[in-house]
Amino acid sequence: MKRITKAIIPAAGLGTRMLPISHAVPKEMLPIVDLPAVYYLVEEAVKSGITDILIITNRDKDAMEDFFDLSVEYSTALAAKGKTKEAARLKEIADMANIYFLRQKETKGLGHAVGRARSFVGDEPFAVLYGDDIVFSDSPVCRQMMDVYEKYGKSVVGVKPVPIEQVQKYCSLKVEPIDGEDRVTLCTDMIEKPKPGWEFSNLSILGRVLLTPDVFDIIDALEPGAGGEYQLTDAMAKMARADGVMALEYIGDRYDMGSKLGFLKANIVKGLEHPETGDELREFLRSLAETL
Ligand code: UTP
Repeated sequence: MKRITKAIIPAAGLGTRMLPISHAVPKEMLPIVDLPAVYYLVEEAVKSGITDILIITNRDKDAMEDFFDLSVEYSTALAAKGKTKEAARLKEIADMANIYFLRQKETKGLGHAVGRARSFVGDEPFAVLYGDDIVFSDSPVCRQMMDVYEKYGKSVVGVKPVPIEQVQKYCSLKVEPIDGEDRVTLCTDMIEKPKPGWEFSNLSILGRVLLTPDVFDIIDALEPGAGGEYQLTDAMAKMARADGVMALEYIGDRYDMGSKLGFLKANIVKGLEHPETGDELREFLRSLAETL
């Protein structure tokens, strides 16, 4: 079985739920305290053993490329001011992984975005970390998914239950239990943004999938699906109906950085953990809570 060393981060969406800010700042570059959302995705991949990461961007998202690059001028200026620790941290970020960028020239959907990665991926299984889904967990979710792949040798989708009335915003999975497994099931079908009454269950894919390379032929043959976009879910549904794919209810807290509430929650959680802000933020939140 081939080792998984490559990941894709599709980050070329329009980010309409985060307008107006996303008009000028890519939502993947919105900060969680002092690090952009996309940093956490790269960190999760690297901690899982991924060495090569392709970020799918568009013409308005150069800030991501700048963040993972090293500005010699900036680092020299920091060093001249004696800020060697800060300069070293920037170098550390630039050296995290081999990071590649590719522009999706038209925003035609997540399936289309992943399809652009074919020549980067080649004939290997690979992870996909959706650009706006941040997960805080002890064991990186990508690693949890790789463990399932190594056991079953099939594509894996990362799932969580969502309130049934919200499943229409996501996708809905048909799953069968597996003897001896608690959090892993076999997914035999799925539907993107189901109309009321069409849901299989309240299990949805949230932010992480690990795919075998046969998905690319399926993506190439896709017709536009929900919202007129080429949906990755439609490609994975074909794989699920043909052979089954594994569904892992992963362990971790997910924050949707593409939504205003998810952005605020992630900042509060990380702000409470941060050594420079934790104590005062806790005090502030306590006094604020008394007024609510
Ligand atoms: P979303 O549907 O959550 O992102 O896609 P979006 O389209 O930016 O969101 P809204 O609804 O307009 O606010 C899931 C992931 O797929 C990427 C997005 O950047 C996001 O990380 N994506 C989506 C692409 O890379 N290309 C696309 O054509 C569509």
